[in-house]
Amino acid sequence: MTGPNPSGSRVAIVGTGHVGATAAYALMLRALFREIVLIDSNADLARAEAADLKDANALARPARIWAGTYADARTASIAVVTAGGATHGSQSRLSVAGESAKIVTSCVDELIGAGFAGIILVAANPVDLMSLVAFRRSGLPSSHVIGTGTLLDTNRLRQELAVKLGVSAWAVEGFVLGEHGDSEVVAFSSLRVGGLSMKAFASPSPEPDRSEIARKVREAAYEIASGKGYTSFGVATAIVRICEAIVRDEHAVLPVSTLLTGQLGIGDLYLSLPCVLGAGGIERVLIPDLSSAEAEALRRSAAALAEAGSSIGI
Ligand code: LAC
Repeated sequence: MTGPNPSGSRVAIVGTGHVGATAAYALMLRALFREIVLIDSNADLARAEAADLKDANALARPARIWAGTYADARTASIAVVTAGGATHGSQSRLSVAGESAKIVTSCVDELIGAGFAGIILVAANPVDLMSLVAFRRSGLPSSHVIGTGTLLDTNRLRQELAVKLGVSAWAVEGFVLGEHGDSEVVAFSSLRVGGLSMKAFASPSPEPDRSEIARKVREAAYEIASGKGYTSFGVATAIVRICEAIVRDEHAVLPVSTLLTGQLGIGDLYLSLPCVLGAGGIERVLIPDLSSAEAEALRRSAAALAEAGSSIGI
């Protein structure tokens, strides 16, 4: 069969560490794909994770799960690249950019060399730079190379505000934009809770402290990693949500890392903006209403990323 299978039949998980294995488990439970192939340079690890998942699959919607090779990824509709450098403790995501770039380059070369022609979803950190590496290396259209970006940070923001405001996270509509990292930007100016501004919703109580909210969201990963050594469930669920929007052709609007081509004066860089996601991958990149301070912060985020990228030859 040439080209990707009909959307939604096979996903390839490249890298079966904590994030890859958790994403495979979550994708299995969500029954989004009939086939899940695990690929890792450590074949024993991939085999063990596949065996463990097959045990779980006995009680889930049937799926074919195995440890395979890049040849098995050829007909996958989505390849999720989680393989990359691992940060430890308070290490910034950018600090492993050089190591991750080598790994992601190798994974993408293998995928394209095997004839993969679907959508690449990058989760390896620093995810914006790694998405740019994957895009340039793959030769695929930018609509088919997506980074998990600030979808995870946006979920953290929604959860944080849900607790502060005593409301369901589903009622919080807003975005964290820019780098999935220390320079990310919370777009408070366009954030709504049940259709109201945060201030109106909180009234007569004062609205939550914006800088405290932004700090907690920005530092959430460090907090989790200080306890368990890494993060996995949050980013794995972001992977599932993005796959779901693609496989079900939802045309959902999600903040994901995408190639900017001049938006907000930023070009030739991956950053997170709200995107319309469907079977074709990224169908449209949206520029939300931002305050001038937020727009300027995004441009600073872009400059920091571009500098980090050029320092390692990206
Ligand atoms: C986090 C990792 C995935 O923010 O960057 O949890």
